[in-house]
Amino acid sequence: MSLLSADGITKEFGGLRAIDDLSVSIDEGELVGVMGPNGAGKSTFFNCVSGVIPPDNGTVTLRGTDVTGDSPESLAHRGLVRTFQDTRELETMTVRDNVRLAAPDQSGERTLPALLRSDEMKNEEVAVRRRADQLIETFELDHLADEYSSNLSGGQRKLLELARTLMLDPDVLMLDEPFAGVNPTLTNEIADHVRGLNDDGMTVVIIEHELETLTSLVDRLVVLQQGRLLVEGEPGVVLEDERVIDAYLGGDVE
Ligand SMILES: Nc1ncnc2c1ncn2[C@@H]1O[C@H](COP(=O)(O)OP(=O)(O)O)[C@@H](O)[C@H]1O
Ligand SMILES: [Mg+2]
Repeated sequence: MSLLSADGITKEFGGLRAIDDLSVSIDEGELVGVMGPNGAGKSTFFNCVSGVIPPDNGTVTLRGTDVTGDSPESLAHRGLVRTFQDTRELETMTVRDNVRLAAPDQSGERTLPALLRSDEMKNEEVAVRRRADQLIETFELDHLADEYSSNLSGGQRKLLELARTLMLDPDVLMLDEPFAGVNPTLTNEIADHVRGLNDDGMTVVIIEHELETLTSLVDRLVVLQQGRLLVEGEPGVVLEDERVIDAYLGGDVE
């Protein structure tokens, strides 16, 4: 049984079929790349799987449970978390607060007067702070911890978003173009972090629209074209596939 599977997913916007009867399965512990030219439906596929929008048709199954149309929060509780192509951190908050606030179910966020806070809540807050500080250090954002996140570079924002996502302690991590607009040095760093998370057992699905960026990183590539599965398999084989080359040459590559 696969860890995560999308079966026969379809999603239309007006008359446009962004995802067309798409089926993709991900096994536990896999590191999978989802590739395809701009407009191929990659982000829409993520949106349907991660509960951001409901598919028109088809089912999403996580660990054998039908989770079609479940909310992102509910899926996060089940261990599936995704990032967005456009980073969504709060610009008027510091890096540290952005990471802390990403934690789920923070009792401290509720409107109880501070005096009534139980020891348990205090402990939870301490744990959240510790975890946030650890992640800020891991992603080498410590020197920026007190900066407003609006002052971060595009690449640093991607690192911040990864740190925020990891506060949710996912076992399935879905990353939408984590390397877009990121310089080569940071790209390598992010790739190393992703590899490390996968080595530690996390299942990872990464969207990338450029050819070859994922070749050395992922176990398997899934290529979409016009909302359909074009080719999937080992990266080296997929990149030499005529259909993939044609899709990119004929398509809307930036
Ligand atoms: N919310 C939306 N409303 C209308 N059209 C959308 C919406 N989201 C995506 N689309 C359209 O669906 C198609 C696939 O988009 P998307 O999934 O973002 O592709 P990709 O991520 O592969 O570049 C595109 O033609 C896009 O314009
Ligand atoms: Mg996209």
